[in-house]
Amino acid sequence: MDLLNVSKSRYTTKAYDATKKISTEQFERLLEVIRLTPSSINIQPWHYFIADHTDAKEKIAKALVGKYAYNAPKVLDSSHTILFCTKADITEDHLANLLNQDDLSGRFKDGNAKQGQKDARTGYVDFYRNEKGDIQRWVENQTFIALGQTLLAAGIEGIDATPIGGFDESIISDELGLAEKGLIPSVLLTLGYRSDSDFNAKLPKSRLNKEEIFTTL
Ligand SMILES: Cc1cc2nc3c(=O)[nH]c(=O)nc-3n(C[C@H](O)[C@H](O)[C@H](O)COP(=O)(O)O)c2cc1C
Repeated sequence: MDLLNVSKSRYTTKAYDATKKISTEQFERLLEVIRLTPSSINIQPWHYFIADHTDAKEKIAKALVGKYAYNAPKVLDSSHTILFCTKADITEDHLANLLNQDDLSGRFKDGNAKQGQKDARTGYVDFYRNEKGDIQRWVENQTFIALGQTLLAAGIEGIDATPIGGFDESIISDELGLAEKGLIPSVLLTLGYRSDSDFNAKLPKSRLNKEEIFTTL
């Protein structure tokens, strides 16, 4: 299927068939797509928690209560659920880790190239933190690139998916000790296969038309 048809046919799954499991090989491919997500200055400010068995999914579902309860069955019946987290801050340790990885990956022809990358990255981080003053927004935007990329990849792989922003952030943070790990929860993604009872599978897509959203200059 070509990319346009995938964009048309993928949809937000509202009910999963709990008996169907994504193969290990296919799930590993999705994780590799996530790992390869591009980000501004390759900042990679994320960490992912994977729930692929009942206990782990129940742990996540604790944050799907009250007004978010409608999302709980999606997690519990999914094959796999991923919590996308974002670093609460960009630390010196993280910057050093990135630079070291760039080096190991063979990106620098000499010490000057390495220093140049270090300075450029630090310059951007300082800009977002001190001048623009919205570093957290910039950082979390990167995590949502991974979400978009994964949704499309799931569609290509024939896997159904649900992005879930409706969850209790403080419950999930406490449950997984996210604050201690320097992380904030950004979004959940459930993956698996639709159930026959999924009303959303039969509904047409609804999007604003192109005249409204594109302006050719
Ligand atoms: C960041 C984000 C958060 C979302 N949160 C939820 C959610 O909590 N529960 C849900 O059922 N759908 C959720 N959705 C799904 C959207 O409602 C859906 O993508 C949108 O209506 C477009 O429909 P489609 O994905 O079927 O094309 C979310 C989507 C995104 C991108």
